[in-house]
Amino acid sequence: MLILGLNMFHADASAALVQDGEVVFAIAEERLNRVKHYAGFPALAVKACLDSIGAKITDIDHIAVGQDSDANLAQKVQYALANPAKILNFIRLRQRKQAFRGIHSLLANAVECDPEQLRFQVHHLEHHIAHIASAYYCSPWEKAAGFSYDGSGDFVSTMLARCEGNDIEVLERVYLPHSLGSFYTMMCEFIGYKKYGDEGKVMGLAPYGKDTYCETVRRIVALNNGIFRLNLDYFKPLGSNQGMRLMPDGTVRLARHFTDCMVRLFGEPREPGEEITQRDMDLAYAVQHCFEKVFFHLLNQLHKQSSCEDLVMAGGCALNSVANGKLFAHTPFRRTWIQPAAGDEGLAIGAALHTYHAVLKQPRRHHMKNSYLGPEYTRERIEGALKKAGLRYKRMEHEPLLDAVAAQIAQGDVVGWFQGRMEWGPRALGNRSILAHPGLPQMKDVLNARIKHREWFRPFAPSILAERQAEYFEHSHPSPFMLHVYRIRAEKRAQLCAVNHVDDTGRLQSVGREENPLYYDLIQAFERKSGLPVILNTSFNENEPIVCAPEEAIDCFQRTLMDALAIGPHLVLKTEN
Ligand SMILES: [Fe+2]
Repeated sequence: MLILGLNMFHADASAALVQDGEVVFAIAEERLNRVKHYAGFPALAVKACLDSIGAKITDIDHIAVGQDSDANLAQKVQYALANPAKILNFIRLRQRKQAFRGIHSLLANAVECDPEQLRFQVHHLEHHIAHIASAYYCSPWEKAAGFSYDGSGDFVSTMLARCEGNDIEVLERVYLPHSLGSFYTMMCEFIGYKKYGDEGKVMGLAPYGKDTYCETVRRIVALNNGIFRLNLDYFKPLGSNQGMRLMPDGTVRLARHFTDCMVRLFGEPREPGEEITQRDMDLAYAVQHCFEKVFFHLLNQLHKQSSCEDLVMAGGCALNSVANGKLFAHTPFRRTWIQPAAGDEGLAIGAALHTYHAVLKQPRRHHMKNSYLGPEYTRERIEGALKKAGLRYKRMEHEPLLDAVAAQIAQGDVVGWFQGRMEWGPRALGNRSILAHPGLPQMKDVLNARIKHREWFRPFAPSILAERQAEYFEHSHPSPFMLHVYRIRAEKRAQLCAVNHVDDTGRLQSVGREENPLYYDLIQAFERKSGLPVILNTSFNENEPIVCAPEEAIDCFQRTLMDALAIGPHLVLKTEN
């Protein structure tokens, strides 16, 4: 049975293919059309899903969409009637529903076939149930507490659920306009980070700040009745500014969320490019602090209501790895499973698996052990791309390649590492990565000056051999998808200075040999040269979506000052080219 999951006409459009209950392929459209956070129809992703198993669209039995315009309709109508200025927005949303109805023709167009031949059934699933499904059905557990939170989806910002067997029982919904995601985004905009997805940058800035505004920011978001409420004086009403706009070219644009009440409280907002002042850092500190406080409060509530010990989680806010790392100290949960594509691209997998288990009542069998669900490329294709680019390269056997790359990293070089299937989700986890030495004091500046050009305050992440994590970090719960930030042990901080953030933490990836043998072996080879079972791992890109195809990796290697590129079994050195 083939189920195609879709996230479409929504940020991070994506497609995922579930074959007899196993997720066999998944990809966000941005990786293929190279438009970051693309929000149109994922036509190329659909094709890539089908090509991965040699299927045709006529072979698909079910289409599952992680959005349901009819969900929470009563709340939407209520809000629109109470806020007449937003009726237009409400109408716009209903119009989008019409676009969804044309799914047969959209898919037929994407793969150029006759819509009459399509035989699939279409299922729509509420946004946050799809998020929770993307975590629960991929987790190894038969029972778990489910949590999803983000800016908004189907008029909801937060969902608490109890998951057992094939079913997800919704315990609580927090309706718009109350949204922790909107709160974070609004504060980011105020301190000059206005692009969709900039929240991660502010999370990195937060530890540079001090506890100056935490009390004040509590006026903006407050705990209330077991959940939370926003003080709407500080937020523009939904729809009045077209909050998150999907542009005709498929990009996403944010409009100003905050009102003049913010200016009265904190002064003029910072514009992008302006100097970052202590005020901005202190506000970053406060937003992260208040976000965590509400997050832990909601999780404690969920623990009580669900009577489950294990937590599954998704939604864009679940990418807040700092909060994820602290949850063990502030809630009774002892184990988490977080969907690597916690943002909206993950809806494709959630909707597809929910259709399989909850709608079609098929038994559970999938456990997502790694995130390598994207395309891979043959040796011939890679070699062809290297030749076309006119690069000199060496083809190497397995061990010599690992040894050569480890030696390069150990001597302080920056290496592009392109191997196997591309990662699903926003993190590069050792298949589309740029690698470097984690213990050289200048490495962060070198990477930024030569390749990444990121803000000075953003940390780089460490990949560590899973069984060595407790030696270097203060917490041993695994972080296979780079979604937890833990403190680095005091005695190891100097050794890991290039990945040790200002607050002595690191957003680690724990690498098990079973999940990625090649990357694991490379880290081991690096340890033999450097004494460290850790490699600095940043995504293979330069202000663009992470590279997907070999041509994009080669292009990135050629236009940046990377020292070497290990692509499949080939090693390319800058000094020879
Ligand atoms: Fe979402």
